[in-house]
Amino acid sequence: MSKTRILTGITTTGTPHLGNFAGAIGPAIEATRRNPEAEFFFFLADYHALIKCQEPERVQRSRLEVAATWLALGLDPERVCFYRQSDIPEIPELTWLLTCVTAKGLMNRAHAYKAAVQENLDSGDADPDKGVTMGLFSYPILMAADILMFNARKVPVGKDQTQHLEMARDIAQRFNHIYGEHFVLPEAVVEEDAAVLAGLDGRKMSKSYNNTIPLFVSAKELRKLVMRIVTNSQLPGEPKDPDGSTLFQIYQAFASADETAAIRVRYAEGIAWGEMKQVLFEKLDSVLAGPREHYAALISDPAALERILLAGADKARAIASPFLAGLRAATGLRKLG
Ligand code: TRP
Repeated sequence: MSKTRILTGITTTGTPHLGNFAGAIGPAIEATRRNPEAEFFFFLADYHALIKCQEPERVQRSRLEVAATWLALGLDPERVCFYRQSDIPEIPELTWLLTCVTAKGLMNRAHAYKAAVQENLDSGDADPDKGVTMGLFSYPILMAADILMFNARKVPVGKDQTQHLEMARDIAQRFNHIYGEHFVLPEAVVEEDAAVLAGLDGRKMSKSYNNTIPLFVSAKELRKLVMRIVTNSQLPGEPKDPDGSTLFQIYQAFASADETAAIRVRYAEGIAWGEMKQVLFEKLDSVLAGPREHYAALISDPAALERILLAGADKARAIASPFLAGLRAATGLRKLG
């Protein structure tokens, strides 16, 4: 039996924050330690970034920051295949082969595209496709190519991505039906119990709400941000409900079960919000201080990061290139003699 392949991509448009760690990066790195049997593919989805962001400096900076974040948090690039999508020319090539078997109607149903159209309709715009690029429209085909290129069986993603996985399966089936059984059908793995953290204002921590706490700010800045997290107006000494509390929820994502249980008791005893903020800051700082130093060292040596990513691309291409050759041949793109 071949090893199970687990693959996921991270769009490089922003600076990684506590929510990314708790919801995706932390569990993914943990999974590489727990599953010695599986083969892991983690990549920077920088072609996807171009769909959302046309600021070259930001795209470039985010690639650097996201790569450094994964390594600083302990991802072992020897153990996994860690690469940039844009270093694998086989991916856009496969995207085209898949584009030619993908029904336009399937893409019409993609949530991200439909939401963009709905927004135009709601604002009374005459053109429902205003602002919609072909990149956005065919986003799910590029994502299918990312996955099918490596015949990944399991794809850890957030809930918002499950439709894309369904589409990848549809596209794979269509290709297999026409050209023979080339692709494994991938499955989404939605980590139901991965934490979705709230941000500074109590809404989901997200760069689109501008309420994030970046993972690797200085201790001083981290403290300042933690002090800004909104709380209710309960007074010191009043018993408080941990489960509706952003401070508690973030604490829980970074602390052990025992530590969390102890803080639960302090909520019942009426810990003051100011004190809880200090407790949370100290916890975060103790977990992040080591990785923060590692991150600073990585960021200050982009050439070394570049080498790590290119080594990852070599590993990935050693798989992608012969596989794509077989797919080209299957479609009739063969040597003439
Ligand atoms: N679309 C994903 C997101 O925004 C990122 C991504 C791109 C991805 N390609 C992928 C995730 C392939 C899993 C597999 O979160």
